Amino acid sequence: MSVSTRQRFLEDYRTIRSAEGRGSQDSSYYRALPYEDLSGKNSSQWAIRGKSYRYFGRRILSEIERETDRALDVLDLGAGNCWLSYRLSQRKHQPVALDIFADPMDGLKAARHYGCSFPVLEAEFDHLPFRAATFDLAIFNASIHYSTDYRRTLLELRRCLRPAGHVVIIDSPVYRLREHGEKMRAERHDYFEKRYGFRSDAVPSLEYFDEDTIAQLAKELNIKWNIHRPWYGLNWWWRPWKACLLGRRPPSNFWILDGVFA
Ligand SMILES: C[S@@+](CC[C@H](N)C(=O)[O-])C[C@H]1O[C@@H](n2cnc3c(N)ncnc32)[C@H](O)[C@@H]1O
Repeated sequence: MSVSTRQRFLEDYRTIRSAEGRGSQDSSYYRALPYEDLSGKNSSQWAIRGKSYRYFGRRILSEIERETDRALDVLDLGAGNCWLSYRLSQRKHQPVALDIFADPMDGLKAARHYGCSFPVLEAEFDHLPFRAATFDLAIFNASIHYSTDYRRTLLELRRCLRPAGHVVIIDSPVYRLREHGEKMRAERHDYFEKRYGFRSDAVPSLEYFDEDTIAQLAKELNIKWNIHRPWYGLNWWWRPWKACLLGRRPPSNFWILDGVFA
């Protein structure tokens, strides 16, 4: 990504996130994430994040912990305000938080709120500043859909993972069909244009997965995916039926993809 493209992306991203009321001056806000949004400004989104993280901790991380039986070297990709790295440190692992956004409220500089230290790195996930085979586990939490090419992003990550290392993708939208994802993408850019006066498309991010793409990545990159479908509650379960009754495009799912490169 060129410097000017990155700058344009970050300007748009900062404008949108600050209008959404992301972040706080209060450290207790950050330390309560993802289970509680003490600002009350994005509570429904954090409720999903909390459920996904709880599921990940109980069903995926604990299994990897059993396999490895030592503190894990974990790469938190697109770490945002670093809440995930904080939670991983609490579990005695060794996270590294990486992002291109250093903002003190919503980016890497928010790491000061956690009262524990872990490395934070301003870098892109397509150019990872690490030697080969550095990490046991890499997590993209609500971030890989900013990639412009999943193949390139995952290949760069594969270089940095140890043999049998895991890549886990959480809270990125998954559609059954590509056309549904494309419709969501167009709606989102139209909404940004109306609300903020720009389309937020400086970077041609992919913005979603569809089932064919997941299968294709498995084949091309030799990844074995274990696909988890957490339960987000009745309202969530009911969304596709409601969309169908109202004649709208189907909503996304938040599956958790746990991948191991063969
Ligand atoms: C929606 S936020 C998610 C933040 C955090 N993981 C969470 O769960 O709250 C997406 C993050 O991905 C970061 N990001 C987008 N493109 C990136 C890239 N190419 N390399 C590294 N980080 C990127 C953004 O700056 C942003 O902080």
